Amino acid sequence: MKSFSIALIPGDGIGRDVTAAAWTVLETAAKHCGFGLTGTELPWSCRFFKETGRMMPEDGIETLRGFDAILLGAVGWPAEVPDSVSLHGLLLPIRKAFVQYANIRPHRLLPGVTGPLRAESFDILCIRENTEGEYSGAGGRVHLGTLDEVAVETSIFTRAGVERILRFGFEQARTRRGKLASVTKSNAQKYSMVFWDEITRKLAAEYSDVEVTSYHVDALAARMIMAPESLDVIVASNLFGDILTDIGAAIQGGLGYAASANINPDRSAPSMFEPVHGSAPDIAHLGIANPIAAIWSGAMMLDHLGEKDAAGRVMKAIEATTARGLGTIAGKDSTNTITAAVIAALN
Ligand code: IPM
Ligand code: MN
Repeated sequence: MKSFSIALIPGDGIGRDVTAAAWTVLETAAKHCGFGLTGTELPWSCRFFKETGRMMPEDGIETLRGFDAILLGAVGWPAEVPDSVSLHGLLLPIRKAFVQYANIRPHRLLPGVTGPLRAESFDILCIRENTEGEYSGAGGRVHLGTLDEVAVETSIFTRAGVERILRFGFEQARTRRGKLASVTKSNAQKYSMVFWDEITRKLAAEYSDVEVTSYHVDALAARMIMAPESLDVIVASNLFGDILTDIGAAIQGGLGYAASANINPDRSAPSMFEPVHGSAPDIAHLGIANPIAAIWSGAMMLDHLGEKDAAGRVMKAIEATTARGLGTIAGKDSTNTITAAVIAALN
Protein backbone atom coordinates (compact mmCIF):
# COMPACT_ATOMS: atom_id res chain seq x y z
CA MET A 1 0.00 0.00 0.00
CA LYS A 2 1.27 3.45 -0.87
CA SER A 3 1.92 5.55 2.21
CA PHE A 4 2.94 9.13 2.90
CA SER A 5 4.76 10.52 5.93
CA ILE A 6 3.45 13.90 7.02
CA ALA A 7 5.02 16.35 9.48
CA LEU A 8 2.30 17.92 11.61
CA ILE A 9 3.12 21.33 13.08
CA PRO A 10 -0.06 22.46 14.89
CA GLY A 11 1.81 25.52 16.23
CA ASP A 12 -0.09 27.99 18.39
CA GLY A 13 -3.63 28.88 19.41
CA ILE A 14 -6.38 27.61 17.14
CA GLY A 15 -3.69 26.07 14.94
CA ARG A 16 -3.81 23.10 17.32
CA ASP A 17 -7.57 22.56 16.99
CA VAL A 18 -7.78 22.97 13.24
CA THR A 19 -4.76 20.75 12.53
CA ALA A 20 -6.22 17.96 14.67
CA ALA A 21 -9.53 18.38 12.82
CA ALA A 22 -7.93 18.33 9.38
CA TRP A 23 -5.84 15.31 10.28
CA THR A 24 -8.83 13.14 11.29
CA VAL A 25 -10.56 14.05 8.02
CA LEU A 26 -7.44 13.21 5.99
CA GLU A 27 -6.97 9.88 7.79
CA THR A 28 -10.57 8.96 7.01
CA ALA A 29 -10.14 9.89 3.35
CA ALA A 30 -6.94 7.85 3.14
CA LYS A 31 -8.69 4.81 4.59
CA HIS A 32 -11.49 5.10 2.02
CA CYS A 33 -9.09 5.52 -0.88
CA GLY A 34 -6.63 2.80 0.12
CA PHE A 35 -3.43 4.64 0.92
CA GLY A 36 -1.59 5.23 4.17
CA LEU A 37 -0.86 8.47 6.02
CA THR A 38 1.54 8.59 8.95
CA GLY A 39 1.59 11.78 10.97
CA THR A 40 4.52 12.85 13.13
CA GLU A 41 3.61 15.70 15.42
CA LEU A 42 6.30 18.31 16.05
CA PRO A 43 5.65 20.63 19.00
CA TRP A 44 7.37 23.65 17.41
CA SER A 45 5.55 26.77 18.53
CA CYS A 46 5.78 29.82 20.78
CA ARG A 47 5.46 27.53 23.80
CA PHE A 48 8.46 25.57 22.47
CA PHE A 49 10.29 28.90 22.16
CA LYS A 50 9.56 29.77 25.79
CA GLU A 51 11.02 26.42 26.84
CA THR A 52 14.02 26.19 24.52
CA GLY A 53 14.74 29.70 23.19
CA ARG A 54 14.08 28.52 19.62
CA MET A 55 10.93 28.14 17.50
CA MET A 56 12.32 24.88 16.12
CA PRO A 57 15.46 22.88 16.90
CA GLU A 58 18.68 23.80 15.13
CA ASP A 59 18.29 20.82 12.80
CA GLY A 60 14.56 21.47 12.29
CA ILE A 61 14.83 22.04 8.56
CA GLU A 62 16.83 18.83 8.12
CA THR A 63 14.23 16.92 10.15
CA LEU A 64 11.42 18.24 7.95
CA ARG A 65 13.26 17.42 4.74
CA GLY A 66 12.60 13.73 5.31
CA PHE A 67 8.79 14.07 5.11
CA ASP A 68 6.55 13.92 2.05
CA ALA A 69 4.67 17.06 3.12
CA ILE A 70 4.06 19.39 6.06
CA LEU A 71 0.66 20.28 7.51
CA LEU A 72 0.84 23.43 9.60
CA GLY A 73 -1.79 25.08 11.81
CA ALA A 74 -0.77 28.61 12.78
CA VAL A 75 2.27 30.32 14.24
CA GLY A 76 2.22 33.24 16.67
CA TRP A 77 1.44 34.25 20.24
CA PRO A 78 2.24 37.95 20.22
CA ALA A 79 1.57 38.45 23.93
CA GLU A 80 4.43 36.05 24.71
CA VAL A 81 6.75 36.14 21.67
CA PRO A 82 7.00 39.01 19.17
CA ASP A 83 5.64 38.02 15.75
CA SER A 84 8.88 39.17 14.15
CA VAL A 85 10.64 36.46 16.18
CA SER A 86 8.11 33.62 15.91
CA LEU A 87 7.43 33.92 12.17
CA HIS A 88 11.11 34.36 11.27
CA GLY A 89 11.92 31.33 13.43
CA LEU A 90 9.49 28.85 11.90
CA LEU A 91 7.05 29.60 9.06
CA LEU A 92 9.16 31.92 6.90
CA PRO A 93 12.41 29.88 7.03
CA ILE A 94 10.50 26.74 5.98
CA ARG A 95 9.02 28.51 2.94
CA LYS A 96 12.47 29.75 1.93
CA ALA A 97 14.60 26.70 2.78
CA PHE A 98 12.30 24.36 0.86
CA VAL A 99 11.96 26.76 -2.09
CA GLN A 100 8.19 26.77 -1.70
CA TYR A 101 8.06 29.63 -4.11
CA ALA A 102 4.42 29.32 -5.13
CA ASN A 103 1.84 30.11 -2.48
CA ILE A 104 -1.50 29.03 -3.92
CA ARG A 105 -4.71 30.39 -2.43
CA PRO A 106 -8.15 29.59 -3.88
CA HIS A 107 -10.94 32.11 -3.34
CA ARG A 108 -14.47 31.01 -4.08
CA LEU A 109 -17.73 30.75 -2.17
CA LEU A 110 -18.55 27.37 -0.68
CA PRO A 111 -22.22 26.38 -1.00
CA GLY A 112 -24.26 27.87 1.84
CA VAL A 113 -21.66 30.54 2.64
CA THR A 114 -22.76 34.12 2.07
CA GLY A 115 -19.91 36.50 1.36
CA PRO A 116 -20.13 40.20 2.15
CA LEU A 117 -20.45 41.08 -1.56
CA ARG A 118 -23.51 41.02 -3.74
CA ALA A 119 -21.48 38.79 -6.06
CA GLU A 120 -22.92 35.31 -6.32
CA SER A 121 -20.15 33.52 -8.05
CA PHE A 122 -16.45 34.00 -8.55
CA ASP A 123 -13.59 31.57 -8.71
CA ILE A 124 -10.16 33.10 -8.23
CA LEU A 125 -6.82 31.35 -7.80
CA CYS A 126 -4.23 33.61 -6.28
CA ILE A 127 -0.57 32.71 -6.81
CA ARG A 128 1.69 34.59 -4.43
CA GLU A 129 5.48 34.66 -4.70
CA ASN A 130 6.66 33.17 -1.43
CA THR A 131 10.44 33.35 -1.07
CA GLU A 132 11.74 36.80 -2.03
CA GLY A 133 10.41 40.24 -3.01
CA GLU A 134 9.36 42.53 -0.19
CA TYR A 135 9.70 39.76 2.44
CA SER A 136 13.29 38.81 1.60
CA GLY A 137 14.41 39.79 5.07
CA ALA A 138 17.25 41.97 3.76
CA GLY A 139 17.79 45.12 5.75
CA GLY A 140 18.88 46.53 9.04
CA ARG A 141 18.67 49.29 11.60
CA VAL A 142 21.38 51.72 12.64
CA HIS A 143 21.68 54.37 15.36
CA LEU A 144 19.24 52.36 17.44
CA GLY A 145 17.07 54.34 19.83
CA THR A 146 18.45 57.73 18.76
CA LEU A 147 16.70 60.50 16.84
CA ASP A 148 18.95 59.60 13.89
CA GLU A 149 17.73 56.01 13.80
CA VAL A 150 17.30 54.53 10.33
CA ALA A 151 15.47 51.35 9.29
CA VAL A 152 16.02 49.91 5.83
CA GLU A 153 14.15 46.95 4.37
CA THR A 154 15.12 46.06 0.83
CA SER A 155 12.92 44.21 -1.63
CA ILE A 156 14.81 41.65 -3.67
CA PHE A 157 13.50 40.62 -7.08
CA THR A 158 15.66 38.18 -9.01
CA ARG A 159 15.14 37.27 -12.66
CA ALA A 160 14.98 33.60 -11.71
CA GLY A 161 12.51 34.26 -8.89
CA VAL A 162 10.18 36.49 -10.89
CA GLU A 163 10.27 34.35 -13.99
CA ARG A 164 9.45 31.12 -12.18
CA ILE A 165 6.45 32.53 -10.31
CA LEU A 166 5.05 34.22 -13.42
CA ARG A 167 5.55 31.02 -15.40
CA PHE A 168 3.71 29.12 -12.68
CA GLY A 169 0.85 31.62 -12.99
CA PHE A 170 0.69 31.21 -16.77
CA GLU A 171 0.64 27.42 -16.39
CA GLN A 172 -2.21 27.60 -13.86
CA ALA A 173 -4.20 29.92 -16.12
CA ARG A 174 -3.81 27.38 -18.90
CA THR A 175 -5.49 24.68 -16.80
CA ARG A 176 -8.38 27.01 -15.87
CA ARG A 177 -10.20 29.74 -17.82
CA GLY A 178 -7.06 31.02 -19.56
CA LYS A 179 -6.96 34.43 -17.90
CA LEU A 180 -4.03 35.80 -15.92
CA ALA A 181 -3.91 39.02 -13.90
CA SER A 182 -0.30 40.04 -13.27
CA VAL A 183 -0.11 42.38 -10.28
CA THR A 184 2.20 45.35 -10.60
CA LYS A 185 2.83 48.86 -9.31
CA SER A 186 5.23 50.00 -11.99
CA ASN A 187 3.78 53.51 -11.99
CA ALA A 188 5.40 54.06 -8.59
CA GLN A 189 8.06 51.35 -8.24
CA LYS A 190 10.27 52.01 -11.21
CA TYR A 191 12.82 49.22 -10.73
CA SER A 192 11.26 46.10 -9.29
CA MET A 193 7.82 46.38 -10.85
CA VAL A 194 9.06 47.57 -14.24
CA PHE A 195 11.23 44.43 -14.16
CA TRP A 196 8.16 42.35 -13.20
CA ASP A 197 6.18 43.83 -16.12
CA GLU A 198 9.01 43.18 -18.60
CA ILE A 199 9.14 39.51 -17.62
CA THR A 200 5.33 39.29 -17.77
CA ARG A 201 5.47 40.57 -21.37
CA LYS A 202 8.30 38.22 -22.29
CA LEU A 203 6.35 35.19 -21.05
CA ALA A 204 3.11 36.43 -22.61
CA ALA A 205 4.74 35.88 -26.00
CA GLU A 206 5.36 32.25 -25.06
CA TYR A 207 1.84 31.70 -23.71
CA SER A 208 -0.19 33.21 -26.52
CA ASP A 209 -3.20 31.08 -25.47
CA VAL A 210 -3.36 32.91 -22.11
CA GLU A 211 -5.01 36.32 -21.94
CA VAL A 212 -2.76 38.32 -19.60
CA THR A 213 -3.56 41.74 -18.15
CA SER A 214 -1.28 43.77 -15.90
CA TYR A 215 -3.16 45.54 -13.10
CA HIS A 216 -1.75 47.96 -10.58
CA VAL A 217 -2.21 46.45 -7.15
CA ASP A 218 -4.49 49.24 -5.92
CA ALA A 219 -6.80 48.87 -8.90
CA LEU A 220 -6.80 45.10 -8.57
CA ALA A 221 -7.75 45.36 -4.88
CA ALA A 222 -10.80 47.37 -5.94
CA ARG A 223 -11.59 44.94 -8.77
CA MET A 224 -11.58 41.98 -6.38
CA ILE A 225 -14.42 43.68 -4.54
CA MET A 226 -16.31 45.33 -7.41
CA ALA A 227 -15.98 42.61 -10.08
CA PRO A 228 -14.44 39.43 -8.65
CA GLU A 229 -16.16 37.34 -11.34
CA SER A 230 -13.94 39.03 -13.95
CA LEU A 231 -10.83 37.41 -12.46
CA ASP A 232 -9.36 33.93 -12.94
CA VAL A 233 -5.70 33.48 -11.93
CA ILE A 234 -3.88 36.29 -10.13
CA VAL A 235 -0.08 36.28 -9.84
CA ALA A 236 1.56 38.67 -7.40
CA SER A 237 4.71 39.42 -5.44
CA ASN A 238 5.04 38.39 -1.80
CA LEU A 239 3.63 41.55 -0.18
CA PHE A 240 0.99 42.25 -2.80
CA GLY A 241 -0.13 38.62 -2.71
CA ASP A 242 -0.24 38.66 1.07
CA ILE A 243 -2.61 41.64 1.11
CA LEU A 244 -4.73 40.57 -1.86
CA THR A 245 -5.29 37.10 -0.39
CA ASP A 246 -6.76 38.62 2.75
CA ILE A 247 -9.21 40.44 0.46
CA GLY A 248 -9.82 37.11 -1.25
CA ALA A 249 -10.47 35.50 2.13
CA ALA A 250 -12.85 38.31 3.08
CA ILE A 251 -14.96 38.05 -0.07
CA GLN A 252 -15.21 34.28 0.29
CA GLY A 253 -16.81 34.74 3.70
CA GLY A 254 -13.81 35.13 5.98
CA LEU A 255 -10.51 33.62 7.00
CA GLY A 256 -12.28 30.48 8.20
CA TYR A 257 -12.55 29.40 4.55
CA ALA A 258 -9.19 30.53 3.12
CA ALA A 259 -6.86 27.62 2.37
CA SER A 260 -3.30 27.70 1.15
CA ALA A 261 -0.51 25.59 -0.23
CA ASN A 262 3.17 26.55 -0.15
CA ILE A 263 4.39 24.58 -3.12
CA ASN A 264 7.85 23.56 -4.23
CA PRO A 265 6.93 22.90 -7.87
CA ASP A 266 10.23 21.13 -8.60
CA ARG A 267 9.54 18.69 -5.74
CA SER A 268 13.14 19.00 -4.56
CA ALA A 269 11.84 19.42 -0.97
CA PRO A 270 8.52 18.97 0.85
CA SER A 271 5.66 21.42 0.31
CA MET A 272 3.65 22.87 3.20
CA PHE A 273 -0.10 23.25 3.60
CA GLU A 274 -1.74 25.68 6.02
CA PRO A 275 -4.87 27.76 6.45
CA VAL A 276 -4.35 31.47 5.74
CA HIS A 277 -5.66 32.43 9.18
CA GLY A 278 -3.44 32.96 12.20
CA SER A 279 -3.48 31.53 15.72
CA ALA A 280 -6.38 33.76 16.90
CA PRO A 281 -5.34 33.88 20.58
CA ASP A 282 -8.63 35.61 21.43
CA ILE A 283 -10.72 32.55 20.55
CA ALA A 284 -8.16 29.81 21.17
CA HIS A 285 -9.49 27.13 23.56
CA LEU A 286 -13.12 28.15 22.98
CA GLY A 287 -13.41 25.24 20.57
CA ILE A 288 -15.15 27.36 17.93
CA ALA A 289 -12.40 27.78 15.34
CA ASN A 290 -13.68 26.96 11.86
CA PRO A 291 -11.61 23.96 10.67
CA ILE A 292 -12.73 24.30 7.04
CA ALA A 293 -9.72 26.33 5.87
CA ALA A 294 -7.38 23.74 7.41
CA ILE A 295 -9.34 20.80 5.97
CA TRP A 296 -9.37 22.43 2.53
CA SER A 297 -5.58 22.94 2.85
CA GLY A 298 -5.36 19.24 3.65
CA ALA A 299 -7.26 18.47 0.44
CA MET A 300 -4.69 20.55 -1.44
CA MET A 301 -2.00 18.41 0.20
CA LEU A 302 -3.64 15.18 -1.00
CA ASP A 303 -3.88 16.65 -4.48
CA HIS A 304 -0.18 17.57 -4.43
CA LEU A 305 0.70 14.04 -3.27
CA GLY A 306 -1.11 12.70 -6.32
CA GLU A 307 -4.17 11.43 -4.43
CA LYS A 308 -6.64 13.30 -6.65
CA ASP A 309 -9.60 11.08 -5.86
CA ALA A 310 -9.18 11.55 -2.09
CA ALA A 311 -8.66 15.29 -2.53
CA GLY A 312 -11.86 15.54 -4.56
CA ARG A 313 -13.79 13.53 -1.98
CA VAL A 314 -12.63 15.80 0.86
CA MET A 315 -13.69 18.88 -1.13
CA LYS A 316 -17.11 17.32 -1.80
CA ALA A 317 -17.49 16.51 1.90
CA ILE A 318 -16.63 20.11 2.85
CA GLU A 319 -19.19 21.36 0.32
CA ALA A 320 -21.86 18.97 1.56
CA THR A 321 -21.25 20.23 5.10
CA THR A 322 -21.50 23.94 4.33
CA ALA A 323 -24.48 23.30 2.04
CA ARG A 324 -26.28 22.00 5.15
CA GLY A 325 -25.51 25.30 6.88
CA LEU A 326 -22.80 23.87 9.13
CA GLY A 327 -19.75 26.06 9.63
CA THR A 328 -21.30 28.92 7.69
CA ILE A 329 -21.79 31.40 10.55
CA ALA A 330 -18.79 32.42 12.66
CA GLY A 331 -18.90 30.92 16.13
CA LYS A 332 -22.22 29.08 15.70
CA ASP A 333 -20.93 25.52 15.34
CA SER A 334 -18.04 24.05 17.30
CA THR A 335 -14.86 22.83 15.63
CA ASN A 336 -15.83 19.28 16.59
CA THR A 337 -19.37 19.54 15.17
CA ILE A 338 -18.09 20.78 11.82
CA THR A 339 -15.34 18.15 11.68
CA ALA A 340 -17.76 15.34 12.53
CA ALA A 341 -20.09 16.54 9.76
CA VAL A 342 -17.28 16.52 7.19
CA ILE A 343 -16.29 13.00 8.26
CA ALA A 344 -19.91 11.84 8.07
CA ALA A 345 -20.17 13.28 4.55
CA LEU A 346 -17.03 11.34 3.57
CA ASN A 347 -18.50 8.05 4.76
C1 IPM B 1 0.21 34.69 5.54
C2 IPM B 1 0.61 35.36 6.81
C3 IPM B 1 2.12 35.39 6.91
C4 IPM B 1 2.67 36.03 5.67
C5 IPM B 1 2.66 36.11 8.15
C6 IPM B 1 2.13 35.50 9.41
C7 IPM B 1 4.15 36.21 8.16
O1 IPM B 1 0.06 36.64 6.90
O2 IPM B 1 0.55 33.51 5.35
O3 IPM B 1 -0.44 35.33 4.70
O4 IPM B 1 2.56 37.23 5.50
O5 IPM B 1 3.21 35.31 4.83
MN1 MN C 1 -1.21 37.12 5.25
